Amino acid sequence: MRSRSCLTIILAAGEGTRMKSAISKVLHPIAGLPLVGHVVKAVQGACLENEKSSLAVVVGRGAEDVKKAVAGINDAARFFTQSERLGTAHAVLAAREALADSYDDVLVVFGDTPLIEETSLRAAREKLAQGADIVVMGFRPENPAGYGRLIEENGKLVAIIEEKDASEEQRKINFCNGGLMALSGKVALQLISAVKNDNAKGEYYLTDVVKLAHAQGLNVIAIEVPVENVIGINNRAELAEAENLWQARKRREVMLSGVTLIAPETVFFAHDTQIEPDVLIEPNVFFGAKVHVASGAVIHAFSHIEGAQIGANTSIGPFARLRPGAKLAEKAKVGNFCEVKNADIGAGAKVNHLSYIGDASVGEGSNIGAGVITCNYDGYNKFRTIIGSNAFIGSNAALVAPLTIGNGVYVASGSVITDEVPENALALGRARQINKEGRAQVLREKYKAIKANKNK
Ligand code: UD1
Ligand code: CA
Repeated sequence: MRSRSCLTIILAAGEGTRMKSAISKVLHPIAGLPLVGHVVKAVQGACLENEKSSLAVVVGRGAEDVKKAVAGINDAARFFTQSERLGTAHAVLAAREALADSYDDVLVVFGDTPLIEETSLRAAREKLAQGADIVVMGFRPENPAGYGRLIEENGKLVAIIEEKDASEEQRKINFCNGGLMALSGKVALQLISAVKNDNAKGEYYLTDVVKLAHAQGLNVIAIEVPVENVIGINNRAELAEAENLWQARKRREVMLSGVTLIAPETVFFAHDTQIEPDVLIEPNVFFGAKVHVASGAVIHAFSHIEGAQIGANTSIGPFARLRPGAKLAEKAKVGNFCEVKNADIGAGAKVNHLSYIGDASVGEGSNIGAGVITCNYDGYNKFRTIIGSNAFIGSNAALVAPLTIGNGVYVASGSVITDEVPENALALGRARQINKEGRAQVLREKYKAIKANKNK
């Protein structure tokens, strides 16, 4: 395609009443990213490829938060406020100022249609490039109830009839309006401004541009896109269905890129999860945002991972929790029931059982025994624990930060360590053991007698 300029308008002003939520519908997340964020990402891939292209977002409910969410992904987006909800055409006209600039293509997409893919957007623009004036993204749902019906004659689209305005006969049509539309920049503003609100809902329907364009002898067509590309989210059940579809897509993409998922349907990814080839992921693993996993790592079952950088050939879990700032160098191990937060675990270091390592660094080759805790918090402030390389921290040691433990140190099991330990030292921070010969037998006699007395 020759480089055409494109204005994309995302409609995101709706009330989203059926979500029954304190926040705007388009801010509800799929894979940790707001619905509108998914739309922005798809648009960036397909419609913002040259410097003359731009993004406009129409906001209403929760405007400030929606702006923030969009700006976090695309800092060049322009925002327009629709102060009353008078319909989709009215919403587009809120961005009249942007529409008045001359773009080759104008794309109107919905903020609540998160699974739209670059390929569908590109296909619509391709048709504009070939001479269409309007391209509507149609789809064939199992149940067309609620959608606008596409009325075609001789391969041309002549009208879109909203469900409420449709006749019995028209309601039987199952080729429906996905809601997304591409218009030639030459005719977009003129057509959308001409839309009236003489319909069942008294709204300005964007879909009415089709019959207006047809009357002017313009070239209007529908293309068919996969159903899941255009599913709209109106309630929490649909939100969960969309999450499900998104996860299925991502699992497939990840597997095709060379990652093994033993039970793919039980692994959940975030929108930005990055996994290199030859990683093995066991069942029931959850990824929150900002995770990168390098090649050769094995993530064992039931691990929960967010904000973590996982090095090559590492081993995580089963039942491990990696929190933001966890950074594992190659061949490190974090085993069962361990939590690691804001901590560097050096190459080949092991945190194998039941530990909490927070605000810390563990040098390469060090071994953290079972139940070791970094005591990083005094109720007000956080402190760091620095452990050198090849250190051995005995089981159940409490390391009270701020604390530095040198290379090659031994910390005795059960110690409470509060002071710096120099290189190669043995640190003991516990009461000395004493044995009292024969005293066990004396105690047994005594306790037996007490019990016998009670039962009398
Ligand atoms: C719309 C289409 C319908 C299509 C369906 C697909 C129209 C008239 N109808 O119906 O043909 O089958 O989508 O899902 O376009 N919005 C605003 N301001 C408004 C009204 C809506 O910003 O004044 C936004 C909403 O936030 C939403 C989008 O526009 O993101 C679509 O609006 P909605 O009311 O959900 O349209 P539908 O009735 O679903
Ligand atoms: Ca809708």
